[in-house]
Amino acid sequence: MAQTPSSSLDHLSESDLTAKLEPELLPKHVAVIMDGNGRWAELRGLPRIAGHREGINSVREMISHCLELGIQALTIYAFSQENWNRPTQEISALMGLLEYYLSTERASLIKQGVRFRTIGRLALLPQSAQHWARTTEKETAHLDKMVLTVALSYGGRAEIVDAVRELLNDARDGTIQPDLVDEALIQQYLYTHPLPDPDLLIRTSGETRISNFLLWQLAYTELYFTPTLWPDFRRREFLLALLEYQKRERRFGRVFSTVSS
Ligand code: IPE
Ligand code: IPE
Ligand code: MG
Repeated sequence: MAQTPSSSLDHLSESDLTAKLEPELLPKHVAVIMDGNGRWAELRGLPRIAGHREGINSVREMISHCLELGIQALTIYAFSQENWNRPTQEISALMGLLEYYLSTERASLIKQGVRFRTIGRLALLPQSAQHWARTTEKETAHLDKMVLTVALSYGGRAEIVDAVRELLNDARDGTIQPDLVDEALIQQYLYTHPLPDPDLLIRTSGETRISNFLLWQLAYTELYFTPTLWPDFRRREFLLALLEYQKRERRFGRVFSTVSS
């Protein structure tokens, strides 16, 4: 179900909204399906790539808000396995943008103490994009203010397939018996290991689906859908998402009622 930000917060300024946040209730890990770039551009009579370009500014802002609030992990869906089915022209423009982002943003990520990681089948990306991604991963590997994970050529089902393949490979020598396979072991084989599961997933643009993102990891994540298009998703929008998250009761299947049954 799509949620629109509560109208009772409409009149509040960004600093009022920030003041309403409860620091101990902030998510540790936020995941984002950054959707709606194309529509943002089309609404302005611009080519779709203009929306992707503007979306980079939202990414930049999101990173600095997370750092400011002390959120330790941000995972963003930048290019899905299914996105390979888009027109070649859009794919190459997106790859160009990725290279541009990585080559120009590296210095700033390092300065901010952000560790950069990628998840997905990176080998499918053009060599130059792979080069920049690997270089940025290496150069930021020692940083620990925040982990920024970018999903590229990523599919949640493919991640599970890759985990099973690797596990079976490791089982060949007989050290992993079927009885030893449990959720914790499978988790170790996922691309995201050792990150904790996301506490909050934000999807922009009004779509209310997961689109093959983090299928295993989202099992108990709080979902937040907003009609705002990704290039328009800035500080205020993020604060509204966090305030909504803080209202949720995360039960994980348990009963929290004080009334005895
Ligand atoms: C999300 O925006 C970015 C990527 C999938 C790369 P879209 O390009 O999907 O934008 P819409 O959904 O068509 O508006
Ligand atoms: C999901 O958006 C993928 C990314 C944001 C990278 P899409 O626009 O590709 O998803 P669908 O096609 O609407 O499900
Ligand atoms: Mg889309």
